[in-house]
Amino acid sequence: MKIINSITFILSFALICFSLLSFADVVSLRGHNPLDEEAKIPTLKRWQHDREPIARNYLQQPPIIPHKIHRYTIDRRSNKCLTCHSWRSYKESGATKISLTHFRDRDGNELSSVAPRRYFCTQCHVPQVEAPPLIENQFTPVDSLTQE
Ligand code: HEC
Ligand code: HEC
Repeated sequence: MKIINSITFILSFALICFSLLSFADVVSLRGHNPLDEEAKIPTLKRWQHDREPIARNYLQQPPIIPHKIHRYTIDRRSNKCLTCHSWRSYKESGATKISLTHFRDRDGNELSSVAPRRYFCTQCHVPQVEAPPLIENQFTPVDSLTQE
């Protein structure tokens, strides 16, 4: 019994040392930030100006918001986005009308108003700031969006 206990102890000790060593290499996107130093304050980025819709990268992508959304409240009582994007008002406002998929609830029922799971628009649709990419990447849009 004693031998097994010490083997277990040595093995778990080795495992802990190993995981500590490998964690040391992991750097967060904010860079190294020691616990005893104040966090670096991220610089404020400028929101992009209103513009034409931004090209999508894949078919199922929630389109990116090509305008500012400052003070566009979405809460239990009102949804500012829908004042322009709803089927009732999109023609007058010139905004894209919300997709039919936004009327389907999670059980597949087709509703006559926006499904609760699609109500908080900014869960999926986000405006853009002027900022360099956080990490390099070679992502290219799917062929069906770039070729005829
Ligand atoms: C004052 C009217 C107005 C409000 C409010 C508004 N939008 Fe828009 N939105 C527009 C217009 C206009 C466009 C651009 C349509 C065009 O140029 O073809 C647009 C474009 C978009 C697009 C791009 C659609 C595409 O096909 O690429 C998304 C996504 C979007 N808005 C989301 C939102 C969200 C989310 C909110 C709320 C936080 C919101 N909008 C509030 C008017 C509005
Ligand atoms: C759970 C994620 C999610 C939420 C929440 C959501 N959307 Fe979307 N939205 C999408 C996706 C994904 C697409 C593209 C595929 C599709 O049409 O369903 C899309 C498409 C759109 C489009 C483009 C439609 C078209 O015909 O090209 C508009 C406009 C839009 N959403 C507006 C909104 C508004 C306004 C809200 C809030 C009331 C909202 N969305 C909430 C995921 C979401």
